[in-house]
Formats: sequence, C-alpha cells, structure tokens
Amino acid sequence: MRYRFMTAIIFVAVASMAQAQGTAPAASPKPAPSKNKKALSPVDAKVQALLAKMTLEEKIGQMIQYSPWKSTEDKIKGEIAKDEVGSLLNVYGAKRANEFQKVAVEQSRLHIPLLFGLDVIHGYKTIFPIPLAEDCAWNPALLEKCAHVAAQEASAAGVKWTFAPMVDVSREPRWGRISEGSGEDPALGSVLATARVKGFQGEHLDDPNSIAACAKHFVGYGAPIAGREYNTTDMSEVTLREIHLPPFKAAVEAGVETLMSAFNDLNGVPASGNTHTLRDILKGEWGFKGFVVSDWASVQQLVSHGYAADDKDAAAKGILAGVDMDMQSHVYGDHLAELVKEKKVPLFFIDGAVRRILKVKYDLGLFDNPYADESKEDGLTLTKDNLDLALQEAEQSIVLLKNEKNLLPLSKDVKSIAVIGSLADSKMDPLGSWHCRGEDALDKVSTILSGIKSSVSKDCQVLYAPGVGVTVDSGTDKALSQAVDTAKRAQVAVVVAGETQDMSGEAAARTSIDLPGRQEEMIKAIQATGVPVVLVLMNGRPLTIPWEAEHLPAIVESWFLGTRQGNAVAAVLFGDVNPSGKLVVTFPRNLGQIPIYYAQMNTGRPAVGKEKWESKYIDCPNTPQFPFGFGLSYTQYDYSNLALDSKTLKPSGALKVTVDVKNSGSVAGTEIVQLYIRDLVASITQPVRKLVDFKRVELAPGETKTVEFDLPASKLGFYNEQGKYVLEPGSFNLWVGRDSSDSTLQDSFQLVSK
Ligand code: GLC
Repeated sequence: MRYRFMTAIIFVAVASMAQAQGTAPAASPKPAPSKNKKALSPVDAKVQALLAKMTLEEKIGQMIQYSPWKSTEDKIKGEIAKDEVGSLLNVYGAKRANEFQKVAVEQSRLHIPLLFGLDVIHGYKTIFPIPLAEDCAWNPALLEKCAHVAAQEASAAGVKWTFAPMVDVSREPRWGRISEGSGEDPALGSVLATARVKGFQGEHLDDPNSIAACAKHFVGYGAPIAGREYNTTDMSEVTLREIHLPPFKAAVEAGVETLMSAFNDLNGVPASGNTHTLRDILKGEWGFKGFVVSDWASVQQLVSHGYAADDKDAAAKGILAGVDMDMQSHVYGDHLAELVKEKKVPLFFIDGAVRRILKVKYDLGLFDNPYADESKEDGLTLTKDNLDLALQEAEQSIVLLKNEKNLLPLSKDVKSIAVIGSLADSKMDPLGSWHCRGEDALDKVSTILSGIKSSVSKDCQVLYAPGVGVTVDSGTDKALSQAVDTAKRAQVAVVVAGETQDMSGEAAARTSIDLPGRQEEMIKAIQATGVPVVLVLMNGRPLTIPWEAEHLPAIVESWFLGTRQGNAVAAVLFGDVNPSGKLVVTFPRNLGQIPIYYAQMNTGRPAVGKEKWESKYIDCPNTPQFPFGFGLSYTQYDYSNLALDSKTLKPSGALKVTVDVKNSGSVAGTEIVQLYIRDLVASITQPVRKLVDFKRVELAPGETKTVEFDLPASKLGFYNEQGKYVLEPGSFNLWVGRDSSDSTLQDSFQLVSK
C-alpha cells in the first residue's frame, strides 16, 4: 500500500513541478481531462475557483493555526491581514472572535474567513460530565444531545470548530487523559464517537448551532508505555486496527469534518509524520475527505522525536504524511514555500490541503456568515434547559459500585449527616480538566455539599469538615481528627474522596492510582468510629481502592460530573434517581495488574485454578476490583430465557438474540443489557469476550421485557496481520448479561462459510 502511494507521489510531483515557479497565483495543476470527468459540486467549484486565485503564500496561510496571546495579538492580526493565517484557537466570545474575523474578512486580499477552534470537550459554559463519566451512561442519544448543546453554546461565542471528540481507546489508568476518552472498548468507543460527532455537527454543518468536530488524537495516543504522558506507543498492526482505529473509523463514517494527528511515536514513526496511518489508512482506505490538523506543535516535534533533522525537514515530513494544518508550530509558515520552490514538496500537496480546509469553511457557511451574533451569546448559554440536560447526563453517569445491606438510598429525614472532604465543597473540581468556559460560571456549579443540603429535610443537621484535603503530600493530623469528630456526631458520614480535577487530563499521569495523600487514612479512621460510611469518589481515572471495596458498605463513583455534580450525586444518594451507570474502564485491584481489561486473550495456560503452571500471579487474583460494564442499581434485574433464532449464521446473515429481563425489585430503573461474543478458534487469537452490542431497557417494579438484539455476521470479524477485516467460519460463544464478567446466560452458534 505504502509503495503504491509513493509511486503516485513521484508521478504527481513531476506533473506539478512546472507549476511551482514564480509567485504569481500558482494555479493548481489542471486535472487531466478524463472521459468521465465528474462535475464538481457547487462547493467544490467555489473552492477550486478560489484556489486558482491564491498565491503560494496565501495557500500556505490557510494551513497555519495560531493561539494568540495578548503579546502576539497585533503581530497575528498583521499576518491575518496578509492572508497568512487560516485559523485561530483559544479565541472565544463573540466580540473577540469578530474582532479577529473583521481583519480577515475586510483587510485581507481574498477575504477568506478565519476558522476558530477550541477544546469544547464536554461543554462550553454549561459543563457536562467528563467523557469517561458520560460514557458510563451508555446513552448515545443523550450524549448526542449534550454535544449539540455544547455546540450551540460554543457557536454563539464564535467558536465553529471543537477539538473533540477525543476517541482514544485506553487501558492505561496511570495516563491522565483516560479521563477524556471512551474507555477501554473499541466497539462502545465507536458508538459514542458517532454520537458526539453527530451532536457537534448536527444535521447541517452551516446551521448556526453546529460546529465542526475533530476526532483526536490520531492514532494510538491512549497506549503510552508505562502510562507516561506523551510516551512512545508500540503495537502490532492487529492491535492498531482492532483496538485503536475503530472509533476513528466510526467518526469518519459519521462524517467528522476534521481529525487531529497525535503527539506520540507510533511503532517508530511519529503519528504526525505517519504516512501509513494518515495517507494509506485515513485518506486512502477510508476515503476521509476532511482535513487533518496537527496537535499543538506536533509537526515541529518530529525533530525532538529524531524523525526530522530540523524544522524544515519536519515541515516536509508533516505535509507529505498528510497533516494539512500546523497548529502553533510555525514550521509550515517558515518553510513550506521554500520546500515547494525547491521541488521537495509538490504543489499538489499544498493544493490538496488547502482544498480540504476551504471546503470545511464553506460547509460551515463561514463565507456567507463569518461573524458571530454578539446579541445572542448570553441568551444561549447556561439556560435552564441546558442545565437540566447536564443534570440528566450527570445522574446517568454515576456508577454504584457497592451497596451492602441497602445502606443506600439514604433517608432525607436522617437526623444528621456528616459530609467530609474538601472535594465536596469545591466548585472547580466538578468541572474536570477540560472545563472550557465553565470557570466563568462557577456560581452555577452545584457542589456535593450544596446538593445534599438542598435535598435533606429541614430538620436534618448537615455537618461538614474538609478533612485532610486532596494533595499528593499528606494533610494535617488536626484536619484528620476534625473530620473524625465531625463524622462521630452524625448518623451517617458521606466521605467525598478522590482526585482534584488537575490530577487527570493532559500532562497528569500518575505512577500511583491510589487515593492521593492521607484520604484513605482519614476514611479508615472514620470507619473505625462505627458511623456508617458512604464513599463518594470524584476522580478522572480508575483508582485502586481495595481496602474501601472490602470494608466500606457503600461506594458511589461520581467522577467529575460538571455544573450539576452536587444535584446529581444527591439525587442518587437519597433515591430520587436509581443509578444505572456502568463502568467503561476496568478498575484494577492494584497497580501491578495494569494493563488489565476484560477483553483479555485466553493464553496457552488460562488460569482455571487447577495447578501452579497457569497464567496468573502468586499474590493477586486475575480478576479486577470492578469489571468493565459493571454497575449496581437500587433494584434487582433478573435475566432469563436467552434464545437465538438459529444455531448457524451465514456470512451475509444475522442472528436474532432475545433475553427476558425482569425488574424484581421495588423501584423503577434502567438496565444496560450487554451482548458479548467469543470466537473460539481463529487465525489470530481472539479475546475471551468482545462487546458487540448493548441495549438500555427501562423497567417498572415487577416488569419484564424481552430485549432483542440483531447480531449481523459482519460484527464477528477481526483484522488480520495484513490489515484486512476477515470473517472466519467456526464456533462462537455468546453471553447476554449485566457486565463483562456475567456468565449467567450463555449460548453458542456456528458461523458457516456460506
Ligand atoms: C493539547 C491537546 C489537544 C488539544 C490541543 C489544543 O495539547 O493535546 O487535545 O486539542 O492541544 O488545545
């Protein structure tokens, strides 16, 4: 594949070299007249016509993106006026965006509008739960609505491009950015990537409430060796295609307008200079028609990787590999014109990149409506509807990990309740690490303490102590004893522990994923008083909490839930909401188990507990603390009557799988029913379980519903070493259950060859 592509380069390079002479509008090579010349679409015709007017320098200007600081603002405005900048990031607020846009539209020769990008990851000003939390709702329809609200708020502020969804699959809880992605499973990650792309981009990209999405970070960034941020990634072609590429492919199939190339070195070729992933796969195999922006200076960083000799070489390698726009590194602006004139980069590559960038600007309607309507901005953000949606998403993102003797839900008539932990009273931490403009609306943030106070009856005494704090170094004895004394005076203690929002996200890898500081010591001391303890976690990654999991009666995983954190947690604690969230990442028992995930291979010596010589540890079970797909409810769901409409499946066919799910408890709830398969024999070993589908089912107390799955044979394939997706006849096991470890209902079937 790669060599075919390089041949094409040589041919094209020859065809376009003659064009690359002087600085007169360097017309792009006229495509050779072909018999079946496809008529250009109206937008493509506009792009082509504009491209034909552009000088080489103006073309390169479209490929440059800067983040203006106060100190560089005037210089950048000067470059914008000369068509030397095509996009800005980190500019928000309709007034400020319009200020820059006016320079581009009114002062430059070609009046090409700027494209404003921003990290609107899980909300613009109304902040939704972090993606890792949102994903635990397993609710793509709701996710799409939340993304669209984020787009509406961002667009009103002049932002027409978000650097989201982050679709990196990760099984590395030490890595801080696991908080931003879709967890450990590529199939679920693909469904959620699709929902976010559709949410951001809406039905029509030129709709005032739509913005262009950007699937990032292409590709493999979620698998850094040792979980260390920006570290090398090294994987087989099979792992790349089975685990890391699928959510990007789903985003492309959903029509994502842009992708962002990653920082990481991938198998010895940095992702932002990787022809195989960017050209062979993304633009070749998948036919991606949008454009690729580099991550922050990741093209220039090809030098640090030792992949480019200097900035000029980095610029050449970036554009030749397929990075169309250079975020913040200057190397395209400094060197591309020279490289074209020296015939080291064919003009064809510049034209292709500029075409793709201009097309997105046309599709967004920027040429017709370049300015944000300053009168609309405030009225469209932080509306009651937006905040209510944030609450709904937050409630569904909460995962109940333990609830011994139904300690939860608590009664609102409890006489006294102690709320312990500084996170319970923090307005910044609920927003998570990518909080966009949520920090401008901290007054709207509901804390867990305020949520509890507004939920309990007026006679309930709510006591509070910040406790030891959430610091990597230890808190004071005094703070710890104050927390214990406060808990002693209450009927129940809600201890809020975990991480601060800056302990996950970018550049926040941890070598320990325990509760930081003296939090566990404080929890043990409170537990020792005999007061029942409900642990509420606020964190951006799986944590190792073996002691808490064994000794505490109730544990609620609340992540960072955004503007409505407190109301959502209180609704679950007091039973106004029956928790339905399910984990999308495995919680290890300890650091030593990492990487641990449900879709493990069986190995040649699977641990069946018969003998010493099995794939296991001598000091820890193989099983995790909490498995992928796990989450409890205040009710009980019983599964029965698993049935397949056939025991054989043809490659072109589909199986109908049904199961009865009964709510045998006393409260209504929503169960997330999961369908897993295992390909028992294949030319590439297959995991012991692989999620292929899931359904959300709402059940009233006592109600039974038959849940039906349609399982097409096409979902049973896998990628082989040649990068081909293949279906191999043979035997399959199938499970329908409440999580990835549930083997209550199992069946099997044959995939036949024809
Ligand atoms: C950051 C991140 C990327 C983000 C970009 C712009 O370094 O890696 O996710 O979109 O820079 O802020």
